[in-house]
Amino acid sequence: MFWYHANTKHSYNSVRTNPNQMDWADQPTTYKNYPELYRRTKIDLDDEEDNFLYHIAGISAKKTYPNGEYYLRINPSAGALYPNELYFQARGVEGKEDGVYHYEVSTASLTLLHPLQGTEGLEPYFGYETAMQGYMFLVSAVYYRSSWKYKNRAFRYCLLDAGHLLGSIEAAALLKEETVRICYGIEREKLNRMFGFEDREWFLSAAVMAQAVKNSFVAPLEFELPYVDASKTFEKNPLIEQAYEESSTLKGCQIQKHAPVFTYNRTKLQETLLHRRSQRGFNAEAISKGQFNYIIDAIHQPVLSDCDEDISIYMVLNRVLDMPLGLYKDGKYIKHGDFARHAGYLSLEQYSLSEQGAVAFFITSKSQNYQALYQKAGIIGHRLYVASLYLGVGCSGIGAYYDDEVNEFVENDEMVLYALAIGN
Ligand SMILES: Cc1cc2nc3c(=O)[nH]c(=O)nc-3n(C[C@H](O)[C@H](O)[C@H](O)COP(=O)(O)O)c2cc1C
Repeated sequence: MFWYHANTKHSYNSVRTNPNQMDWADQPTTYKNYPELYRRTKIDLDDEEDNFLYHIAGISAKKTYPNGEYYLRINPSAGALYPNELYFQARGVEGKEDGVYHYEVSTASLTLLHPLQGTEGLEPYFGYETAMQGYMFLVSAVYYRSSWKYKNRAFRYCLLDAGHLLGSIEAAALLKEETVRICYGIEREKLNRMFGFEDREWFLSAAVMAQAVKNSFVAPLEFELPYVDASKTFEKNPLIEQAYEESSTLKGCQIQKHAPVFTYNRTKLQETLLHRRSQRGFNAEAISKGQFNYIIDAIHQPVLSDCDEDISIYMVLNRVLDMPLGLYKDGKYIKHGDFARHAGYLSLEQYSLSEQGAVAFFITSKSQNYQALYQKAGIIGHRLYVASLYLGVGCSGIGAYYDDEVNEFVENDEMVLYALAIGN
């Protein structure tokens, strides 16, 4: 087990002896804005490409609370802290100048960071030797946005949220009938330096929605962007920085070449993405076996990637019509019983989610590549949201659970990565 994971477990005692104490005055911003001198264009929802990009990370709801307004996005995030930033290279995309862009969420704009010249491109940093026509996305994390609240455990949330953002790219690509390949084998150190991140932000992954241009040649792009403060407040977390560094070199990756197959109607999928929200609690209503099977099929589709780590998906069936109660592993029935209450307890006593839901999920892994396996859990989690909401079934991610007690329950000693619940 990766030492960082072992060090950041929650237990019944730990959450009572070390409650998360937040200093509200130090609350970081969730937005990154490049200086005015960079050229930016507003996202135009009538433009097909802009519309596609909006469906990955745009603001889709506003909530008003006594202490202020919050903007929620297409992609979910633990505590709505949105630690991730999205960049991309566009090459040969209709209406877009070839270049490297930042998706500026607060103003719904695309900031052109660097127009491509001659044969240059980011492709070599992704391991491609030829020019790639289309989009090459890069996902980063500004870790303090999350560690401000979640302290040492925040690296887990940065990775899960990044997985959700990759999942959002995958889902938005379906609107264009395109497939996305997740890429973890990126030159992190070099890219972090070029983008001027100064150890406060770092790249976690990439997603490629592009085709190789035959007989083309690309020279590695070289630029130095200035440091841009993306959190406003900052407190260094040496444990998280060490965890990032030590998990940045990939070892023994398996390549997944099989693309997932989804059966969504495009218009209905677009509506689903636009209105996606986390369910705040369930009413203990059952879902049908047909709904269950549809959702399970979607989350078990392969994830196209250059480092596909094995993970296990455990499901606690609380109320699925015509299905026996109990614990299932990767679709197989392994333990009979009514575990609804216990699933609620394991999810840090969030009974309204894992007990009242129709199905509670726990994702575990004993694989090697921590960044890749954790983001895969986020991608699967995102598929769970999309497939469930598509059918009108609610969903919520659950980042807080009693790690060791989940292991006891599912009878394994793997790293517990993520919990989720679905229901009505
Ligand atoms: C990784 C992750 C962990 C989460 N953990 C919890 C949780 O433990 N309890 C909960 O009620 N919501 C949880 N959520 C839901 C977030 O609070 C929610 O995504 C965020 O407030 C934004 O709202 P939205 O999803 O409706 O857009 C989690 C979401 C993610 C992506």
